Amino acid sequence: MDAASWDERYRGSELVWKAEPNRFVEQELAGLQPTGRAVDLAAGEGRNAVWLAERGWEVDAVDFSAVALEKAERQAADRGVRLRTVHADLTLWTPPEATYNLALIAYLHPPWPDMTQVLTRAGAAVREGGTLLLVGHDAANPERGHGGPQDPRVLYTAEQVADLWRPYADILRAETVPRTVTDVDGAGRTALDALVRAVRR
Ligand SMILES: C[S@@+](CC[C@H](N)C(=O)[O-])C[C@H]1O[C@@H](n2cnc3c(N)ncnc32)[C@H](O)[C@@H]1O
Repeated sequence: MDAASWDERYRGSELVWKAEPNRFVEQELAGLQPTGRAVDLAAGEGRNAVWLAERGWEVDAVDFSAVALEKAERQAADRGVRLRTVHADLTLWTPPEATYNLALIAYLHPPWPDMTQVLTRAGAAVREGGTLLLVGHDAANPERGHGGPQDPRVLYTAEQVADLWRPYADILRAETVPRTVTDVDGAGRTALDALVRAVRR
């Protein structure tokens, strides 16, 4: 989906995603001491970025949907925190190098060649000892999971992401993780996500 389609989707509803952080983001980062700057790449309406800011991180929220970023700013203001929003296409934008103590990427799915660029730049943007966290729809999800993008060209495995980060980061977790979701019919289903957590060397 391009930026205009995302804008349309975000304009169409109060909140496309919930206001609470993604469960894996919360699980992985709740115990991490906030130490300076974090960047949320593809921040959307800011559910994760606002939560990080509430925890004490100084957060840059990047997305190519201006509508999403406006909503993120509104959520932040309502909850008494600040975000620095950056309106940019991540396939073109280069974050400043060795700047952040945390880089988060949640459910960003451009075609894999573009995603490799985003992942590499995210790695370069994190300082030594800083954390890299990715959560996304796993490549196995269309066959064995539920929902999410179905086009295999935009999906990846945790191992593919870990392989990219491994030359300069220690991989703490690289797994397929189940996420229980409630379908429109009210039934519980299991989506499969890719989860990678790494520490920059
Ligand atoms: C599924 S949403 C996830 C939002 C957020 N990370 C979350 O977990 O709530 C994907 C987001 O990626 C953004 N996005 C997709 N491709 C992008 C690109 N090339 N550059 C910047 N943002 C992009 C969309 O605008 C959208 O907000």
